[in-house]
Amino acid sequence: MAAEQKKYGKVLRIAPDAITIFDPETLMRINSARSSYDKAIWYESARIDYRGNSVITEVNTTKHDKRKAKLAPAFAGKNLALLETKVDKWLAALVDSIRSKIAKGEETMNIGVLIQYFQVDLISELSIGQPWGDLKEDKDHFGYMKMTEDIIPNIQSYGLLPAFRVIFTSPWFMKLFGPKTTDTDGVGLFMRILQDEVESRFKDNSGKPKEDWDILGEWMNNGVPANECQLDLSLLVPAGSETSVMMIRGTLLLLMSSPVAYWKLKQEIKGAIAAGHISNPMTNEESKNLEYTQAVLREGMRMMVPINFGFPKKVPDSGDTICGKFIPGGTDVYVNFHSLMRSEEVFGSDAETFRPERFLGNDPNVAYMSKVVDLVFGGGRFMCLGKAVANMEINKIFVEVRNRPHPNSNNYPLNGQFGLLFRNFDFQIATPEKPWRREAYSTYLVRDFLARVTEDTTMG
Ligand code: HEM
Repeated sequence: MAAEQKKYGKVLRIAPDAITIFDPETLMRINSARSSYDKAIWYESARIDYRGNSVITEVNTTKHDKRKAKLAPAFAGKNLALLETKVDKWLAALVDSIRSKIAKGEETMNIGVLIQYFQVDLISELSIGQPWGDLKEDKDHFGYMKMTEDIIPNIQSYGLLPAFRVIFTSPWFMKLFGPKTTDTDGVGLFMRILQDEVESRFKDNSGKPKEDWDILGEWMNNGVPANECQLDLSLLVPAGSETSVMMIRGTLLLLMSSPVAYWKLKQEIKGAIAAGHISNPMTNEESKNLEYTQAVLREGMRMMVPINFGFPKKVPDSGDTICGKFIPGGTDVYVNFHSLMRSEEVFGSDAETFRPERFLGNDPNVAYMSKVVDLVFGGGRFMCLGKAVANMEINKIFVEVRNRPHPNSNNYPLNGQFGLLFRNFDFQIATPEKPWRREAYSTYLVRDFLARVTEDTTMG
């Protein structure tokens, strides 16, 4: 749709009652605190459980806001430090996995899958205190990845076809043909694992996680009822996995195919280590001072935006004027994130080029471009709940982490003292003529992303 959007401009009609836009100012206005836009019914296509909505699929604004207010504290304040220890732990596990593959002579590895295993383990541990265990066993437990490969294209197709959406997301249809907790694999099994955990925790009413802290425990302490905990957990794993994974994999590919940026990034990390500016493990705050690294991350997020298209809001009954055109009340306004992040008006005539340098300096335009990139997380009442976690892991993953066995975690990960990503490894595209296979839906699916990874002992 990028070509059509470029041809027809910022407002493109895609159905009798739907438009797609890529104007940042309109998006900021829709997301603002005073906005009277509601979520469009499209969101319901992301329902996976016939028993009810999760916070993301709840389109009733009052209900959504009330629910979100109880979920949000788990991702903020003092909990951020706890989230950071989990991020460190799983980054270390990712490094261990890469290192053990190299030790076995498997320098060419499916780095795309490893990053996905890392993310699923991280989010499942954050959510219910138990990692899926994918990295440890180098295995897609419960067929989760297969499940996302099936679900993402399906959601996209019936999400955009109102008649199908009504049928496929209706409780009776989902109850008859949708996933069930009695299933032995896929979404149903995934729902049962979450259900069992929620039931056992509510049974003794402790809210206590198996390890020291998790999101479910926080929600229970915040008075979120059992059925909502379960419905929101079943959304959290996919919402928290498919998004960050796309950005991380994408930025890695951009770096591997851009030697100048790749070496500048490594030199900045090396200089910061030599100057004693980053500790082990590097803190989130320290990462924010690495100017070039931050520019790479912003440029990576821009060019490999994890959400491609969707998340429509409904124009209020009185209608609205968007980019000079009157749009009647009730119209669905979809966001074309791809076109937005490649907008020449915002990012310059080389918007299609990976050039982190555009984000260097204190020029007001740099601040504006960064604000536009930030729109990938939504905004205002629609803001992504996991934004702080996502930014934290993205800030750390390309730089460094140290292995730190977690108490009560069967001493996993435990190999080695230090695990450092860009600091200790060099990455090379394994199949340069076709580095990966990527399909664009509302989010992306990436297959066959192979890299040759070697130890870099020169960094110190
Ligand atoms: C780079 C990574 C990520 C991106 C780009 C991203 C983007 C988004 C977007 C665009 C939305 C919808 C906003 C709207 O409705 O307009 C959203 C919602 C949400 N995200 Fe994220 N997300 C990311 C990572 C995460 C992570 C790591 C988690 C969980 C740990 C998470 C949890 C959620 C939740 C729970 C919602 C629903 C919020 C609501 O309904 O109000 N996300 N995200």
